[in-house]
Amino acid sequence: SPYWPGLIEAYRHRLPVSPSTPVVTLQEGATPLVPAPELSRRTGCDVWLKVEGANPTGSFKDRGMTMAITKALEEGAKAVICASTGNTSASAAAYAARAGLTCAVLVPQGKIATGKLAQALVHGATLLQVQGNFDDCLALASKLAIDYPVSLVNSVNQYRIEGQKTASFEIVDVLGDAPDVHCLPVGNAGNITAYWQGYREYAADGPATRTPRMWGFQAAGAAPIVRGAVVERPETIATAIRIGNPASWTKALAARDESGGRIDAVTDRAILAAYRLLARTEAVFVEPASAASVAGLLQVAEAGGLERGQRVVCTVTGNGLKDPEWAISGAPAPVTIPVDSAAAAAQLGL
Ligand code: F0G
Repeated sequence: SPYWPGLIEAYRHRLPVSPSTPVVTLQEGATPLVPAPELSRRTGCDVWLKVEGANPTGSFKDRGMTMAITKALEEGAKAVICASTGNTSASAAAYAARAGLTCAVLVPQGKIATGKLAQALVHGATLLQVQGNFDDCLALASKLAIDYPVSLVNSVNQYRIEGQKTASFEIVDVLGDAPDVHCLPVGNAGNITAYWQGYREYAADGPATRTPRMWGFQAAGAAPIVRGAVVERPETIATAIRIGNPASWTKALAARDESGGRIDAVTDRAILAAYRLLARTEAVFVEPASAASVAGLLQVAEAGGLERGQRVVCTVTGNGLKDPEWAISGAPAPVTIPVDSAAAAAQLGL
């Protein structure tokens, strides 16, 4: 049917909900799986983009948040809290508003994109800018959730993972089976954990005959999993994944190793190149962190690490409008003209 009720209703039998659970939804999920002809041409593979920026608040976080806020409400919570590089806070603020819950968010001062800040504020969250990085914010939020009556909705909350695993279900439902390779950006490592759980469940229960190799990509200046050590001062232009001590570190390693996959680093330069390529050729506008999946795919392909003919899905995690600064700074300054067709034609080279 053309009506999409949101992912909890769509995958109810695979999620920890009961008939009396008060579902909080903005009809997230059912995001486009778009063929990527230019990436397919460059890699000799069959590449698809899972466009998670099409979710209600513009990122994949809505998948986890519909579950986390639903369960918080069911358990009688009055307030929720999260640490965030921006997208989690935007999503938590929206779903908390929908549920009538109070929402507090802790973000690294000066290090979250303007659009995300706007979302948290417009949905009525209480926002604290912390003089530290995301890892400091998460430690603080975790402590507050232990000491005070407030529920933590970061991806250490298993309900977040349960919601986010539905992206794998959707991909298999559309393609008819799991792809050979799945690429995604890695920050706090909740999403790679969730996709891997979803693929495994579908392979165990029948809808898929196999699982993909999981390829995760961290920004080079914030690549603790690749380096095998905490990064005390993570730095990258991809602020969404500016994380030095991921909460789901060991689960990301398990996803990598159990799937026969890889977790590699991509430079900011490669991230921005992929960001522009996606916008100009595939016409998909993502935020910089999202382009890490595509930067990584191209990097592995160029190094000869990808056989031709494979089916590849890249998750692009967030909408480009959240962080428009990079779109504007990379483009020529607009030209101003009088109200005059000859002037316009001259500028346009017509
Ligand atoms: N892409 C985007 C756009 C993100 O916002 C995040 C994480 C990731 C990728 C990485 O996903 O953490 O599950 O490995 N953003 C979190 C936040 C940290 O607070 O919004 P992950």
